[in-house]
Amino acid sequence: MEALVVSCVSSFYKPTPIHKKFNFDKSTPIPRSCFSSTSKIKSRSTKGFTSLSSSTKVLPENVDPPEAELETETPNDKFEWFSQWYPVMPVCELDKRVPLAKKILGLDVVVWWDRNENTWKVFDDTCPHRLAPLSQGRIDQWGRLQCVYHGWCFNGTGDCKFVPQATPDGPPIHTSKKACARVYPTTVQHETVWFWPSTDPKYKDIIKKKKPPFIPELDDPSFTNSFINRDIPCGYEIIVENLMDPAHVPYSHYGVMQLDKPPKVKADREGGQPLELSVKKLDVNGFVGRQEWGSVKFIAPCTYCMYADDDPVDVQGNGSAKSTGTDEALVRPKLSGQQRMVFFFFCIPVSPGNCRLIWGTAKNFGSWIENIIPKWIPHILSNLVVDSDLYLLHIEEHKIMEVGAANWQKECFVPTRSDALVVGFRRWMTKYAGGQINWGGKFSPTSLPPTPPREQLMDRYWSHVVNCKSCSYAYKSLNTLEVSLQVITVVSIGIVAATKQGVMSAAVRTMVVSMAIVCFVASRWLAHFIFKNFHYHDYSHSFP
Ligand SMILES: *[C@@H]1O[C@H](CO)[C@@H](O)[C@H](O)[C@H]1NC(C)=O
Ligand SMILES: *[C@@H]1O[C@H](CO)[C@@H](O)[C@H](O)[C@H]1NC(C)=O
Ligand code: FES
Repeated sequence: MEALVVSCVSSFYKPTPIHKKFNFDKSTPIPRSCFSSTSKIKSRSTKGFTSLSSSTKVLPENVDPPEAELETETPNDKFEWFSQWYPVMPVCELDKRVPLAKKILGLDVVVWWDRNENTWKVFDDTCPHRLAPLSQGRIDQWGRLQCVYHGWCFNGTGDCKFVPQATPDGPPIHTSKKACARVYPTTVQHETVWFWPSTDPKYKDIIKKKKPPFIPELDDPSFTNSFINRDIPCGYEIIVENLMDPAHVPYSHYGVMQLDKPPKVKADREGGQPLELSVKKLDVNGFVGRQEWGSVKFIAPCTYCMYADDDPVDVQGNGSAKSTGTDEALVRPKLSGQQRMVFFFFCIPVSPGNCRLIWGTAKNFGSWIENIIPKWIPHILSNLVVDSDLYLLHIEEHKIMEVGAANWQKECFVPTRSDALVVGFRRWMTKYAGGQINWGGKFSPTSLPPTPPREQLMDRYWSHVVNCKSCSYAYKSLNTLEVSLQVITVVSIGIVAATKQGVMSAAVRTMVVSMAIVCFVASRWLAHFIFKNFHYHDYSHSFP
């Protein structure tokens, strides 16, 4: 195996917290001037990340990611973006009656249910006739995918079965190779449809040679899984970094995600603290690492897992390793005994500046709660968590694009171990994956879509609700309820107004009027609730 064992990144980030190095009291904020030589930092090369661990008393100028120190035995390994499985959608959000369009890795695909073969199919979303999107089509009565522009039909292997415009006694047009829809290799794993981004027939049976990344807990019947997805107007790299960065949680999710155990000494209101993160082993396939409350695994390009264990399995082996970090934990679930939990994330590149996140948990306890509470309720919180990062990340991405992704190490100042996983990811990108996503020549690598208005940036309806069965159901039901409340209001007022004095006693009249008022207030409140939770929540960090 070409895996290289790197002496852990942490050894370059000697765990001395910066405030100790400078002999600052813990509660004293580090003076900004200590960091003011940024221009020098920016201009130096990325070589030699040693001085943070040396005993220098001033901030070393050559603080850089530990890039130069990592060794590889197989320097020529190259990550091929188009030779990987990509998740399309969780099966639970797909409708067997409706073809669904998705963009992944710049490719427009349609996923549809082939009832003749009982499998999900992923086709290029382009009709061979005049390139209309097949995803707008329907499944015909024989279970074929029908293009709704002129009615051409395709079976599960992409063969054209019917051209309505062809004369019965003419040449058999539909048998022509040019009449075929292009088919991507597809598989279902972890209750999710995956596809291989090449329609070249030589990859038809690629599943026999290579499978999507496997997360044992997601296939274990003693575990319950939950899935949620959202389209995100930020690029893949930015979102992957965000997932690998627990240090932002107490700040950008302040008041949204709770600290499980606040630090013993709180230096600020939010309770940020030094975090002991490290990358243990990095190769062309990703890396494994540690964070405060367990191990983490990045399986390139899409999969990221965080294992929450009180006695975490050592990433290299056998479960004997204990966390050497501090006892404090961020959002660590309280686990006991045999309880195990995995947070999994699939971060899917869509196009420059856009990705799709499918995430959830697999856990072997407490599943009855999930069975009682409808999914859309926890989704409100999950969406709020996303919203509270979105604007920051969107702007951050544009700044990085301005300086060039290749200059990430030079422009960003990442001197503490809390950034170790992010640094590991950037290292994987530059070392193996060409420094940026290969879009197959489709997009200019240095251009991002312009920043949309905030309503669009943080839109929840198109980015989540329409792609989530539970939320669309709740959305429709709550809207119906809102209309019903309005109808009751109007009808009650109408009755009171139309009834002659004396026919209705004063008590009844008061009751009907009160009901009208209550229903009116409730409908207004509901309208606000629906807008805020299913359309747009203008997240403010100043007033969380
Ligand atoms: C699709 O049609 C082709 C050509 O008629 C046939 O060979 C193939 O078996 C069909 N595939 C399915 C899934 O029915
Ligand atoms: C398990 O961990 C112990 C202690 O670190 C180590 O000595 C041993 O070799 C490991 N065993 C396996 C099977 O990895
Ligand atoms: S474009 Fe699809 S049938 Fe004409």
